[in-house]
Amino acid sequence: MTLLAVRGLTIAFPWEGGWRPVVRGVSLAVERGEIFGLVGESGSGKTLTALAILGLLPPNARVMGGSIELQGPEAGETVDLLTLGPRELRRVRGGRIGLVFQEPATALNPAYTLGFQVVEAVRAHRTLSRREARDEAVRLLDRVALPDARRRLDDYPHQLSGGQAQRVMIAMALAGGPDLLLADEPTTALDVTLQAQILELLEDLRRDLGLSVLLITHDLGVVAETCDRVAVMHAGEIVEEAAVEALFRAPAHPYTRALLAAVPRLGAAEDRT
Ligand SMILES: Nc1ncnc2c1ncn2[C@@H]1O[C@H](COP(=O)(O)OP(=O)(O)OP(=O)(O)O)[C@@H](O)[C@H]1O
Ligand SMILES: [Mg+2]
Repeated sequence: MTLLAVRGLTIAFPWEGGWRPVVRGVSLAVERGEIFGLVGESGSGKTLTALAILGLLPPNARVMGGSIELQGPEAGETVDLLTLGPRELRRVRGGRIGLVFQEPATALNPAYTLGFQVVEAVRAHRTLSRREARDEAVRLLDRVALPDARRRLDDYPHQLSGGQAQRVMIAMALAGGPDLLLADEPTTALDVTLQAQILELLEDLRRDLGLSVLLITHDLGVVAETCDRVAVMHAGEIVEEAAVEALFRAPAHPYTRALLAAVPRLGAAEDRT
């Protein structure tokens, strides 16, 4: 069943007295419980697509057309996120849709302890006492396998390694009980070993919590490791969408073939199967 359906999304910026579309008629559907990859080179429009879903586009951006439908929570219910006001969007953000960004170090506030930040994330979406929220924070940090979670609540972000900081960010993204995690280059800032661990965590969460993940990356190796389906973005458009095995076996679009040819690691990814 489809959880999120983006249809015909077009986003433009002011340009020489008119509007220049940089995301052009993008359509994609994320099913419940799947990890969907959105891949493409720098500047292809991946982040803008994600920001539109979250109602976080820069003020000078304009949505020229399209819809972004989120299903549920009740069966048969859908809402077009593009029609929501700022208050309703704030409830969706961090609520039904959890966010994971590239740079955990900059997304965490250096002035506050982990405990404070995770507790705040919990209390933003649920009415719990301080003590209950603190227990919930520990549960979330355990869930993302931060070692020794309870003891670390009083640590500050600078006391975390990059991989641990990304785990804390994911715990915060889970705080509102989301159906969808939207992760924009969540592992790009990490070395290869940590990257694999974080991707494994996303797969665990999908399996254990039935989460859907929209995973944005420029790295086809990440897609090969993690995703069920993938859409390839090029110059503001989706040029191909396919199951991951199908894409790697028989890429249909010339741009996808070029992208595949440029990634030496994919030989290794294929050997795995
Ligand atoms: N505030 C802005 N004003 C004008 N143009 C913008 C603005 N933000 C983004 N763009 C343009 O929109 C296009 C898509 O940008 P976007 O950030 O979505 O790309 P991306 O695929 O996420 O790239 P990357 O892999 O580098 O993160 C780019 O060509 C960029 O120049
Ligand atoms: Mg981006």
